Amino acid sequence: MNPHSISKPLSALKAGPLKGRVRVPGDKSISHRALIFGALATGTTRIRGLLEAEDVINTARAVQALGAVAGRHGDIWEVRGRGVGGLRAPEGPLDFGNSGTGTRLMMGVVAGHSFTVTMTGDASLSRRPMRRVLAPLLEMGLEILEPGKETLPLTLKGTHELMPIVYRLPVPSAQVKSAVLIAGLHAAGKTTVIEREATRDHTERMLRHFGATVATEAKGEETHITVDGDAELSGKDILVPGDPSSAAFLAAAALIVPGSDITIEGVLTNPTRTGLYLTVQEMGGDVTFENSRDEGGEPVADIRVRASRLKGVRVPAERAPSMIDEYPVLASIAAFAEGETRMDGLAELKVKESDRLQATAAGLAANGAKVQVDGDSLIVTGASGLKGGGLVATHLDHRIAMSFLTAGLASEASIVVDDSTMIATSFPEFRPLMEQLGAHYREDGR
Ligand code: S3P
Repeated sequence: MNPHSISKPLSALKAGPLKGRVRVPGDKSISHRALIFGALATGTTRIRGLLEAEDVINTARAVQALGAVAGRHGDIWEVRGRGVGGLRAPEGPLDFGNSGTGTRLMMGVVAGHSFTVTMTGDASLSRRPMRRVLAPLLEMGLEILEPGKETLPLTLKGTHELMPIVYRLPVPSAQVKSAVLIAGLHAAGKTTVIEREATRDHTERMLRHFGATVATEAKGEETHITVDGDAELSGKDILVPGDPSSAAFLAAAALIVPGSDITIEGVLTNPTRTGLYLTVQEMGGDVTFENSRDEGGEPVADIRVRASRLKGVRVPAERAPSMIDEYPVLASIAAFAEGETRMDGLAELKVKESDRLQATAAGLAANGAKVQVDGDSLIVTGASGLKGGGLVATHLDHRIAMSFLTAGLASEASIVVDDSTMIATSFPEFRPLMEQLGAHYREDGR
């Protein structure tokens, strides 16, 4: 997003029952990958359902700047790629806006090309750690032109002679795993990433679909993911399912607004992404996956959610990777559940678009919830309702904004977020879809 855009405060007003059937836009993780792999493939990739949000559009611009042709024709985005290692030097810096995923995955691409690229981002992205991606890529042969620098803006120089590596992930991050696997496509030999906790596997699935050789092998507690180098990808058709991380806000709203009954159609239900849905079921939430099917190599379902009496639960640390983006909205739900919800293992939340652990706790406290941060854990003690009436600082973080614009639909007094513009980075249709279900928002911020 444009860092100079003017903030737009927004209030969520108490809502009557939410009803209806809706579709959410395409999955953000899959959309980034479809554009990037399309650019690394020969021939044409046709993407149906691409998420047209700022983060993904910045990735589309980046692949265009690197010589791929990417554009929309009717309902379909077409990418004409230049083959693995075949991209060309951009004329200027690549601006990734607010997107950690776009930046980190593209670092894997840049690593395999012998040219220099400057990457920039907004204030939120420029604070986020890049060392986690740069460390393995430096081992493979990438150079940082400002040695020692670990945050954007960064100028990187790749090489056609990338070395394959075996890399054990120090943090459970699909972005880091993906960057190394993408670089590995360009290397001379097999590159292996070892993960202890399963993170989202869209890169592995989609690379296979594009014709790369990717082996996944369980070894004791760990999984070894190996990609063959000198890869050749060929353009493919991609169908992007609905984003479960966006659907989570609608589902949360339906759970906490009395009398609600909604269905969200065509949502990705890949088990590496559904931790939130499992958790709310454990809390007593009436959430069912209907019409489960396979679409384009990913599991998909229609998710029906009805307002429910919820009770607090303990969310184990092992579940964090499968719901890493959903903790702020789970905290909103927990404020309406009876008793304590304890969420463990949240260290990674501190390095998202904001420090989500602090931002979530502060926003809830400002609205009368009982909330505590205990090391890497968040503890919310709910009651039958949330007072509301508070102002939430969003820190350029779309998910913080949407989580509180969800909680405010069921709180006694309205909840106001200090800015809503950055919602466009992932879910521009958030407000119209919520309104279609019966929610109301007010722009004056009060
Ligand atoms: C993403 C992975 C997650 C997630 C992000 C998207 C991806 O980040 O938070 O929104 O598409 O790979 P980490 O892998 O760094 O946890």
